[in-house]
Amino acid sequence: MKKKLLFIGPPGAGKGTQASLFCAKYGLDHLSTGDLLRDEVNSGSDLGLKASEVMNKGELVSDELVLSIVEGRLVNIKKGWLLDGFPRNVNQANSLKKLLEKINQPLEAVISIKIADDYLIKRLLARGREDDNEEVIANRLKIYREKTSPLVDLYTKQGILMEIDGNADIDVVFSCIEKGLG
Ligand code: AP5
Ligand code: MG
Repeated sequence: MKKKLLFIGPPGAGKGTQASLFCAKYGLDHLSTGDLLRDEVNSGSDLGLKASEVMNKGELVSDELVLSIVEGRLVNIKKGWLLDGFPRNVNQANSLKKLLEKINQPLEAVISIKIADDYLIKRLLARGREDDNEEVIANRLKIYREKTSPLVDLYTKQGILMEIDGNADIDVVFSCIEKGLG
């Protein structure tokens, strides 16, 4: 089983759900920049306060901030890691590449979770996180298309990307991911 992984996909695709299941089963560290940023927001720090303004608009927080969060954690992981929600633009992907070269742990596989807009909007509205309202979801989707989706082409060209249909029951999606990575 591959152990240096990235899950990529639009908001609500199921990245976090599938990453949690996968990491629990295979003992990997789950690095979700969204969760780590929400921890920072909940801590009430100045950094968290600034980040929450950006997140509640559905924009991306600064590359410097997310990079510092990821870098500090990746270097200490021994068994394997799963990145969820990072990298999110070409600059972050380039920084990740340099960081992984430095620690000699190349990315082994990228899972791209696909789902139609109307399904993901329904899922997110039902969840109701602070950034789950129609206006902000629309902006998150726009940002995904403009900034993040070019990474799908980038990793396809590198021959490490697999597409998974996210519009199925959670356990069905999970089995497809396991088969893809096995
Ligand atoms: P982030 O937390 O990463 O949010 P996101 O990408 O918008 O995606 P979600 O976490 O909402 O969806 P998901 O794909 O994880 O789906 P989930 O499993 O939760 O980022 C939030 C914000 O933080 C960003 O907008 C940005 O501001 C900032 N940020 C984060 N990373 C950044 C970075 N690298 N650079 C800059 N800024 C960054 O599932 C969604 C719902 O659907 C759940 O309720 C779940 O139970 C349900 N569900 C899941 N799978 C299924 C299924 N198969 N069937 C039915 N329901 C399902
Ligand atoms: Mg998530």
